[in-house]
Amino acid sequence: MHSRRALLYMPGDNWKMITKSITLGVDSICMDMEDGAAVNKKAEARETIAKALRELDFGTSEKLARINSAGSGWEQDDIEAVLPYRPDGIVIPKVESFEQVEWAGKIIEAAELKYGWPVNSIRILIGVETAKGILNLKEIAAHPRLDAIIFGGEDFAASIGATRTKDAVELLYARQAVVIACAANDLQALDIVTIDYKDVEALRLESEFGAQLGFVGKQIIHPNQVSVVQEAFTPSEEAVTYAKRIVETFEASQKEGKGAYSLDGKMIDMPLLKNAQKVLARAKPK
Ligand code: COA
Ligand code: MG
Repeated sequence: MHSRRALLYMPGDNWKMITKSITLGVDSICMDMEDGAAVNKKAEARETIAKALRELDFGTSEKLARINSAGSGWEQDDIEAVLPYRPDGIVIPKVESFEQVEWAGKIIEAAELKYGWPVNSIRILIGVETAKGILNLKEIAAHPRLDAIIFGGEDFAASIGATRTKDAVELLYARQAVVIACAANDLQALDIVTIDYKDVEALRLESEFGAQLGFVGKQIIHPNQVSVVQEAFTPSEEAVTYAKRIVETFEASQKEGKGAYSLDGKMIDMPLLKNAQKVLARAKPK
């Protein structure tokens, strides 16, 4: 799976921002036809994204296109406009049912077969960001075609009538529900946007808290946010060194016939080993 520490959006009709995004070394670039594109710019966004996929070299950044949600009336034209130019993945926002993922999966597979691309090579990422979406996570997250679930904090707050606060306590239950559904299905969980993009310190704190909850990455909306988010979702050198020590000492203690042992005055056993292995896996973004 592609590393998605930082997933940068820009309005799909904004050629300038798209060309800028490929210079930033960001993990994923998500050209948006949904809420980032004005209603009278939807057609232009489709054409501009198709052109970008055709003409630009995205380097190691993943190239994603976000379509409008099921029932918007735009979703079919959106997905058909970009698929022939082979994005790495399609992002479907406001997903509320398994069937909505199934709908996209069938269209994508038809394109893969038509163009002779390997089946399943175009990935699906979904936004779960409404009350219904959170309630139906169990079924939705089990869809075999999925790579990642993106939690949209602003949409979710609007969906339940919550007031957004800086520490986002009103989103905690839903954020954790997304992380759990992802962990159970081996998917990536991607956290909320920090919309106050000039406040780098708030972004750092929110990113670190997201990483602590178990998210592997975060949505961003501005070039300023790339490095802070990438750093927060990459385990620190200290954490990596400690994880390596756990892996090494665990093996030795197993050989001695001890399931639990002490390291620096702390008890280490199987769950700590598993967590250490996750840290090491995250330390090497692809
Ligand atoms: N992707 C790529 N480049 C971006 C960018 C983005 N999301 N946001 C800003 N930039 C570029 C600008 O074009 C500008 O480039 P330049 O220096 O070459 O002229 C530079 O970064 C600085 O931008 P700045 O002037 O600070 O921002 P702004 O006031 O023009 O725009 C926003 C602020 C929030 C409107 C803008 O960042 C944006 O549209 N973000 C994406 C919003 C979005 O897609 N929302 C939907 C998904 S949640
Ligand atoms: Mg949204």
